[in-house]
Amino acid sequence: MNNRRVIVKVPASTANLGPGFDTLGMALSLYAWIEMSAAETTTFRLYGDQMQGIPTDKSNLLYRVAQLVFEEAGVSIPELDIAMYSDIPLTRGLGSSASAIVGALAAANALIGSPLSDHKLFQLATILEGHPDNVGASLFGGIVVSAWDGDRADYVRLEPHAKLETLVAIPAFQLSTEKARHALPSQISMADAVFNVGRSSLLVAALASGELGLIRHAMRDRLHQPYRAPLIPGMSAILEKAAEYGALGAALSGAGPTLIAFVDADSQNKSELEQFLLATLKQEGIEAETMWLKPSAEGPVITVEDAASPCPGLMERIKGEVVR
Ligand code: HSE
Repeated sequence: MNNRRVIVKVPASTANLGPGFDTLGMALSLYAWIEMSAAETTTFRLYGDQMQGIPTDKSNLLYRVAQLVFEEAGVSIPELDIAMYSDIPLTRGLGSSASAIVGALAAANALIGSPLSDHKLFQLATILEGHPDNVGASLFGGIVVSAWDGDRADYVRLEPHAKLETLVAIPAFQLSTEKARHALPSQISMADAVFNVGRSSLLVAALASGELGLIRHAMRDRLHQPYRAPLIPGMSAILEKAAEYGALGAALSGAGPTLIAFVDADSQNKSELEQFLLATLKQEGIEAETMWLKPSAEGPVITVEDAASPCPGLMERIKGEVVR
């Protein structure tokens, strides 16, 4: 039997960054952990509030993703012991499903000696998730610019500026990506397409060159945010006014409902900005939790152990690192 035990720490992500719908992503300093080893019988140990209702049989996403890796590599490990804890809230626009997919791909690949390349893992992750933005960020860390034609996904990773920090406001309600995608039109005008090509290109150039002052002008969008705004009361006011409260720019995080503000780490206006976000949502009757998150420079951090070595258990292992 395979004699490894693998522990993977994988980051959350924010997708779109405003104009880069299904294209731009950034890894965030909020994490999920997955432990995986071969077993006699498949067992799951799922810890924390975020894991409630997740299946504990072979229909589990982590199990299915792992089996896909084994199939690609021509290896058979039908029974697995899987443990997971996540600090990433579900269906809030912080890439929880992408981090589970990337974490399971990375864990399963490491379990069998890493035969699949990162490029291959990215292709698999993109197919599983349906778009490359969140999975690219969770897999490569930093800021990831990606494009997928349904066949091949390509990407370039950018190093986030050292002064870049984010404030997320996570509303106390869930919004499925499916519902938020249904709100989008099937066609847009040439003028809106040109608007978004311009903003998205400018944003990538600003992030790559460190011209953080351009973010507020570049982080505007006509492809998805205007159509999703009715699903998130308070969103339009936050996107419009966040810069007046000291943000470098603001966007809907992924498909929402989380809102994300980009902030200079040295800003003197952090608490005003936080109050503005919370008060604007509260005016609409929405309770929210705020978190200050940094870009996560790394994708999955993988530890491989001998399965025969003493195992402290996942929660014991990560207890100093969890935040929620
Ligand atoms: N790009 C995706 C969307 C991210 O906006 O629908 C959500 O997972």
